[in-house]
Amino acid sequence: MRHDARGIPVSSGSAQAIQRYEQAIGQLQSYVGDPVATLDQAVAESPDFVAGHLMKALTLATFAERQFAPAIAASIEAARRIGANANDRERGLAQAAQHLAGGEWHAACRALDGVLADYPRDALALQVAHLMDFYRGDALNLRNRVARVLPHWSRDVPGYSYVLGMHAFGLEEMNQYPEAEDAARAALAIERRDGWAVHAATHVMEMQGRIDEGIEWLTSRERDWAPDNGFAFHNFWHLALFHMDGGDHARALALYDGAIHPGPASMLLSLVDATALLWRLRLEGADVGARFDEVADEWEAKLDGEAGFYAFNDFHAAMAFAATGREAAGARLMQRIAHAAEGNDTNGAMTREVGAPLIRAIAAYGRGRYDEAVDLIAPVRDIAHRFGGSHAQRDILSLTLIDAARRAGRVSLAKHVLAERLAAKPESRWGRRIMTRIDAAAPAAH
Ligand SMILES: [Fe+2]
Repeated sequence: MRHDARGIPVSSGSAQAIQRYEQAIGQLQSYVGDPVATLDQAVAESPDFVAGHLMKALTLATFAERQFAPAIAASIEAARRIGANANDRERGLAQAAQHLAGGEWHAACRALDGVLADYPRDALALQVAHLMDFYRGDALNLRNRVARVLPHWSRDVPGYSYVLGMHAFGLEEMNQYPEAEDAARAALAIERRDGWAVHAATHVMEMQGRIDEGIEWLTSRERDWAPDNGFAFHNFWHLALFHMDGGDHARALALYDGAIHPGPASMLLSLVDATALLWRLRLEGADVGARFDEVADEWEAKLDGEAGFYAFNDFHAAMAFAATGREAAGARLMQRIAHAAEGNDTNGAMTREVGAPLIRAIAAYGRGRYDEAVDLIAPVRDIAHRFGGSHAQRDILSLTLIDAARRAGRVSLAKHVLAERLAAKPESRWGRRIMTRIDAAAPAAH
């Protein structure tokens, strides 16, 4: 029986294929390089490599895009065809991949956790479950799933730093900021080029409103997390948010043009960030030029393929359509949402509970129906983690709610919600700017 570098048994595949698998694991953990291309090589050279096929299916699923469904199905089928001698760990991975292919993200994470119970050093199961915890907005498991395996890892196990980086992000999403920062710094002391650990500490600074420190944190180590990192666009997005806090819209737009959306997005993940940044700039009254139209064009081109697959993405498409007055595209999106909301899968519940009301809210905001937008966002904001994303990403709901309340003349409500931000981020200028705007609007509103 062969084993991978962390001692996990591998039932099949040549020594070279397992070597490529190791390379793909490193690429998946670090976001540097293309693990799918590496796995394609591995299974081309060693078609009986069950773990290679399964890793490809699981990795593609972590993009949360419907376009990968055929390739995921093909990899699952390839693993099934040759998997008569698959071991229990591989059978667990296959079950998780099947759940993901069926849109059952919660069940997939439970299957992956079953694998981790027996093989806590399974870097693939951990990485995929961590990302799916993120998409499911499961902060508890972003932290606890990593905590459950941590005793089995140490500095002499390859990839340990990435486990610390994941733990850091989970701690941050559970609002344990000092512990999160310590874990991120410990990860970076071992591997300074860990973009996810850099990101976890960035989140701590974002949540605590440590704006100048956040800018320094990201810019001083930019060569560690960019440019050759598939996740760099998101750390640049965080950097743009820090600059926006100081009202530096020009700097935020320069980052948008240069690093967040330099051309048509290749992944919905980066289109989401591009859209979210433009929406925040719009709320702040910045002129974003034709950028929203470009982004809306991209969302429109993806409507038929991707709408109704993941509510968090759909919500961002809705912002692009609302900002550009695209009523027809918005209506098509709503049709797809209505269909998705009938589903019994994970996204069906996300869409019913969170996505659909928020998408209606954004459409109402776009039409100037601010009262309606407020009444749709307010009841959903506190359960919005159910459609995934981070606290920092979902902050857009609070910003939009406050702005809609201000525009609707509901000054006390706007200030009521804004009080959260002023308390959490005493150094932040963004919140104080919003307060000034509310005060300026107040006389006209009464
Ligand atoms: Fe983030």
